Amino acid sequence: MAVDRIVRGDARTVLNRLPRESVHLGITSPPYNVGIRYAGYSDDRSYAEYRRWLKGVWRALYRALVPGGRFALNIAPTSIKNFRPIHHDLARDVTDVGFTLRAEILWYKQTMGRRTAWGSWKSPSNPHVIPSWEYVLVFSKGPMRLEGDRANADITAKEFQSFSDAFWHIPPERNRRGHPAPFPDELIRRLVKFYSYRGNVIVDMFGGTGTVAAVARRTGRHYLSIDSSREYSELALARVRSASPEPGAPIVPIPAQVLEVPGGSGPGSALRRREKETRRQLPHRMAQ
Ligand SMILES: C[S@@+](CC[C@H](N)C(=O)[O-])C[C@H]1O[C@@H](n2cnc3c(N)ncnc32)[C@H](O)[C@@H]1O
Repeated sequence: MAVDRIVRGDARTVLNRLPRESVHLGITSPPYNVGIRYAGYSDDRSYAEYRRWLKGVWRALYRALVPGGRFALNIAPTSIKNFRPIHHDLARDVTDVGFTLRAEILWYKQTMGRRTAWGSWKSPSNPHVIPSWEYVLVFSKGPMRLEGDRANADITAKEFQSFSDAFWHIPPERNRRGHPAPFPDELIRRLVKFYSYRGNVIVDMFGGTGTVAAVARRTGRHYLSIDSSREYSELALARVRSASPEPGAPIVPIPAQVLEVPGGSGPGSALRRREKETRRQLPHRMAQ
């Protein structure tokens, strides 16, 4: 599996095809399991199954990262009334597979237009907190230092100073391009510049419309964007094609087409459906 590709396939299957220790930075935002309507993916699993599935993906990323490689996971607690701290649970799952949690960045979006879910209005009996932010949890594999040539660091002093303040005020992406939850470019630009060198390999295994791939190409990093949806993968290809390298950034190739990788073990995949089918039939079979 070569890099500088947009791949339509299952996150874990594709990651497992990468050479061991070949990726420097993973950046992703997985489905949050809140019933969002993605093309071709059903975002409402049992919580246990959801975590188990993602844990397999974290494990596959761990294998693919170089020692000192980083993983930036964008995640947020879900539901206002029944607060579910999935960022805590997923942080535990990611560290369980071997990563070290090294930083917590607060992405302040201020998305609240008209507030309505106050809970107990003007009473302390049961008020609701409505988060206007998400987290980017940053993990390392092995050593905290990422080896690289200082000449390939492209962050300015001003950017470094500003990004190392972990409170990032960035509005959500307005141009959704038909996707329910794309990253804003600025969030990814900061992560890429702060945590990687020019020429590094960056992977987004839930790549959607290819924000990570487009920013990587613009800043002279190699990329791999994986998504199970053909529709989003085509959007990602179009985006990466129109991403011009910044002045001084090395030219990174663009693929001619989306690469199809069959197979997979994510929820909704054919394999998973077959597994479910077999489980359903099992008591019947045993009775025979
Ligand atoms: C939160 S969105 C990511 C959006 C992306 N950050 C962007 O900027 O467009 C999660 C994505 O995961 C994809 N997805 C769901 N199951 C998948 C799987 N098993 N393998 C790869 N991608 C999957 C969905 O199609 C969806 O686009």
